[in-house]
Amino acid sequence: MNSKFKRTLVTAALPYANGPVHIGHLAGCYLPADIYVRYLRSIGHDVKFVCGSDEHGVPITIKAKKEHTTPQAVVDKYHTIMGNSFKDFGISFDVYSRTSSKIHHQTASDFFKTLYDKNGFTEEVTEQYYDETAKQFLADRYIVGTCPKCANPNAYGDQCEKCGSTLNATDLIDPKSTLSGSKPVLKQTKNWFLPLDKLQPKIKAYIEKHSDWKTNVYGQCKSWLDSGDGLQPRAMTRDLDWGVPVPLKDAEGKVLYVWFDAPIGYISATKELLPDTWEDYWKKDDSRLIHFIGKDNIVFHCIIFPAMLMEHGEFILPDNVPANEFLNLEGDKISTSRNWAVWLHEYLNDFKNMQDVLRYTLCSNAPETKDNDFTWKDFQTKNNSELVAIFGNFINRTLVLTHKFYEGKVPEAKTYNKEDLIVLEELAAAPGKVAKAIEQFKFREAISEWMNVARIGNKYLAETEPWKLIKTDEQRVKTIMNVALQISCNLAILAEPFLPFTSKKLFELLNIKPLRWAAASQTSNMAHGHTINKDELLFSKVEDEHIQIQLDRLKKSKEDNLVNAGPIEFKTETTFDDFSKMDIRTATIIAAEAVPKTDKLLKLTIDTGKDVRTVVSGIAIYFKPEDIIGHKVCLLVNLAPRKIKGIESQGMILMAENAKGELSFVSPEKNDIENGSIVK
Ligand code: MF3
Ligand code: ZN
Repeated sequence: MNSKFKRTLVTAALPYANGPVHIGHLAGCYLPADIYVRYLRSIGHDVKFVCGSDEHGVPITIKAKKEHTTPQAVVDKYHTIMGNSFKDFGISFDVYSRTSSKIHHQTASDFFKTLYDKNGFTEEVTEQYYDETAKQFLADRYIVGTCPKCANPNAYGDQCEKCGSTLNATDLIDPKSTLSGSKPVLKQTKNWFLPLDKLQPKIKAYIEKHSDWKTNVYGQCKSWLDSGDGLQPRAMTRDLDWGVPVPLKDAEGKVLYVWFDAPIGYISATKELLPDTWEDYWKKDDSRLIHFIGKDNIVFHCIIFPAMLMEHGEFILPDNVPANEFLNLEGDKISTSRNWAVWLHEYLNDFKNMQDVLRYTLCSNAPETKDNDFTWKDFQTKNNSELVAIFGNFINRTLVLTHKFYEGKVPEAKTYNKEDLIVLEELAAAPGKVAKAIEQFKFREAISEWMNVARIGNKYLAETEPWKLIKTDEQRVKTIMNVALQISCNLAILAEPFLPFTSKKLFELLNIKPLRWAAASQTSNMAHGHTINKDELLFSKVEDEHIQIQLDRLKKSKEDNLVNAGPIEFKTETTFDDFSKMDIRTATIIAAEAVPKTDKLLKLTIDTGKDVRTVVSGIAIYFKPEDIIGHKVCLLVNLAPRKIKGIESQGMILMAENAKGELSFVSPEKNDIENGSIVK
């Protein structure tokens, strides 16, 4: 640890209180933050870990409207659900607060007032859409209209989800209010802006001092600073009735921008935790502030919040912002609305007491430097081939043999040979390696260094074979088993940040009180003569059928979505000329066979009336070769030939595909129409 710092405040992004927690949240910031904090606690560093629910913002008001309830009811519900999930998975916040609390409203309000009094804002009058029926200004998400870029009729005021363009509400063609359905009108309104343009030099200097940040983080900050016109003023207030009221006289019906109030939530949470000493963590130069977040939050934590803190003047600035990239699920973006997620509460129903397996999988596969994919197959492999086969196996053999040979009493190691000494040396070096990786926010590397210790133990037992040696060299076996027990104990110590439940259980099995990090460089933590408890399995195999249940559930989500999505949108307009360039003919499939080493492709032989040609078609999932021979189809005959898997494909069969991806031939209605007839 860098000794410049006496204490550390670790924050994890305040999650929006509008849905339960999924694996993406966990992998993105809560798990790495928790590992980091548990490690700091273990080395005896003064650390506090704060988080809470982010309960403001427009999506929460929209959810409340949809569910015919109030925003407060929405956040009350999810605040509890989320808090429980975090607890269930061992995320060890010192406080889990919330931004609708009184203490937060007061803190955020005071913060705004301080900036205001220091002339930290510029006042600007802009034109915003207003709904005259609902009598309120419309946040971007309350306005839909036609996207000027792709003609999607359901684009939002801030973004078109179809083509991905960022929009201004005033760009939308034919805008409508989602509150009343009426056409909104532009109306002038005053808001308070943070002049990021003027602050740019200060922010730039701050960022450039931190070129040691993770490259994904530093790179994103630099590109915000260096791109185009640089930073732009940003409104810190909104015309909305849900949030922290703007503490000014002429600000009726306005609240603080959610991204202004939410990070101040870190301060309020610290106050709630430490009413008397919170300032130590926020105002002393020997305190360190670290924000764990996902990549979509980088600009707010590295640029906007530091700018707010600088302008305020009393607070330290974030020392590091170790943001992760995104975790995908089975190759697709995690999405709450599409129910494409693994929800923590559901996981725990299906995999009772297996929190650590998920923690292990998510940490070893964390999206640290790039987006990463969670697959159930991988989850199964991580459990069966690593936790069960390496770590679990080593611990189990050690405990079982200790009971078998010594009635559970730790034997004495009188003399070590070279083999033992090498292992003990590696064991003593392990905490340093794991620690170094954690301190650099390289949690994947850290957990694999930990698993390496179990590998070393496993190999040691496999090579020394105490179960055989017991017949010929009892003395030697005592040493071996002593060493194996030392390894087990140190594994428990080093496991704590990553697998807290397992660590606790292992200490119980070893019948000792949990030890701190420093003890892990000792190789004599298990005193000889000490009696361990009866062995129990730490992990058990995940079978194929357990995985299949999860995959089926995801498959169902996908199907439900496709059905709900309705017919696929039409493409943009084309011309008759463009259409008539396509030469489409009726034809007959006269032979069909699977293309070797592929599961989608069929090689078809087709009679076009004029010639017989080969077409490779990606329909093997839906059609068996023998079922389609003799079938009449429509064929695009003048498509440029293409080589597919080494076979030249001369044309393309017309198929109808529904939203679920199911295929059907487009065939002439009259089966006796001659091959080669023109389709037009
Ligand atoms: N609620 C935000 C999100 O889920 C994160 C807020 S982090 C904070 O993306 F700093 F503002 F608290
Ligand atoms: Zn669009």
